[in-house]
Amino acid sequence: MRMNKAREFRHLTWLKSKRSARHNLGSSSVLSLTLGEVGPLPPAQQVGDAHPAGDPELVELISGTYRAPPEGVLVANGAGEANLHIAMTCLAKGCEVLAERPAYHSLVEVSRFLGARVVHFDRRLEDGFEVDLEQVKARLSQRCRLVILTNHHNPSCALSGADRLRALAEIAADRGARVLCDEVYLDCAGEDAPPPLATVAENAFSVNSLSKAYGAGGFRMGWMIADPDAVRAVKLLRDHTTIAPSRIGEEVAKNILRRRREFLGRTASLTRRNTEAMERWVRSRPDVRWFRPPSGTICFPRILKRTPTVEIAQRYFDREGGLVCPGEFFLKPGYFRVGLGGDPGRFGPALDALGRVLDATG
Ligand SMILES: Cc1ncc(COP(=O)(O)O)c(C=O)c1O
Repeated sequence: MRMNKAREFRHLTWLKSKRSARHNLGSSSVLSLTLGEVGPLPPAQQVGDAHPAGDPELVELISGTYRAPPEGVLVANGAGEANLHIAMTCLAKGCEVLAERPAYHSLVEVSRFLGARVVHFDRRLEDGFEVDLEQVKARLSQRCRLVILTNHHNPSCALSGADRLRALAEIAADRGARVLCDEVYLDCAGEDAPPPLATVAENAFSVNSLSKAYGAGGFRMGWMIADPDAVRAVKLLRDHTTIAPSRIGEEVAKNILRRRREFLGRTASLTRRNTEAMERWVRSRPDVRWFRPPSGTICFPRILKRTPTVEIAQRYFDREGGLVCPGEFFLKPGYFRVGLGGDPGRFGPALDALGRVLDATG
């Protein structure tokens, strides 16, 4: 009997199969927060009911933090759910999606699963992984309904400014397409962060969550910002599917957003130290090139070896008990994605162990 089957999310399978790793360069989130750190939770809070559009207080907080009208905010069960509902609302069988490459695989696979033809524009190390507007223009057809990108870029953490992305949104609007800008790393930029794209471009969705910059992914809490009509369209579908966000998650999200500066300070302190260590390591290695991200929890160094990076990454696990994500999972072999949000005391030894594997690899 027939079924609609998604392709395996190899990246996720890989992470789950290597949970026993001693060295973790695989995580894209900052070091996890604990329940104690995100508490306290109000004991008298009724949890029997959920809010289909999101807890009004949380919506106000998101609206105030990101300068978006409350009707333009929809709280979601993680960025993953927001992305899915946006894709389901925008795409139809036979349409096109223009997506960045390298890419976070799910952003591409969900579109393919829904029957869209996925066309890519390339982001290259030589250009600091910046978005090339000429390429976008050349590859955007009249059949395209959605341009999909990330800012910061997953996997490189390159950060595009508001002007460039607004120009991209205008190019898309000229062809009748919307833009899905996944901004789950954007809060890592702190004061330097450009505004969510959806607050400066009418045809854009901005998606964010507590997973990456805050280290609270287990609560599955995220949100989207968009033009209020677009939010209403997505919510019509959400009412039929997951109905509402998690009440507990919303309480935690309020706590985190109220103490946002404190949590983002912690993130910046961890990633700054690890990025410095990464810089020193890359400088010591003739077989590695990289783009140093301005902020964020990941980077995407190029590995100058003949051996496929997926094999080198497997050797890292087998010989050193190390976890790193090969570029193959981001549609870009020859690179590793390295997490910069972990414990700085363990980051150097993890890189040293990776260096030993590279030394023994042709
Ligand atoms: C670009 C991007 N979007 C979405 C997600 C999923 O985020 P969430 O945990 O908020 O669903 C991830 C997780 O790795 C991601 O990297």
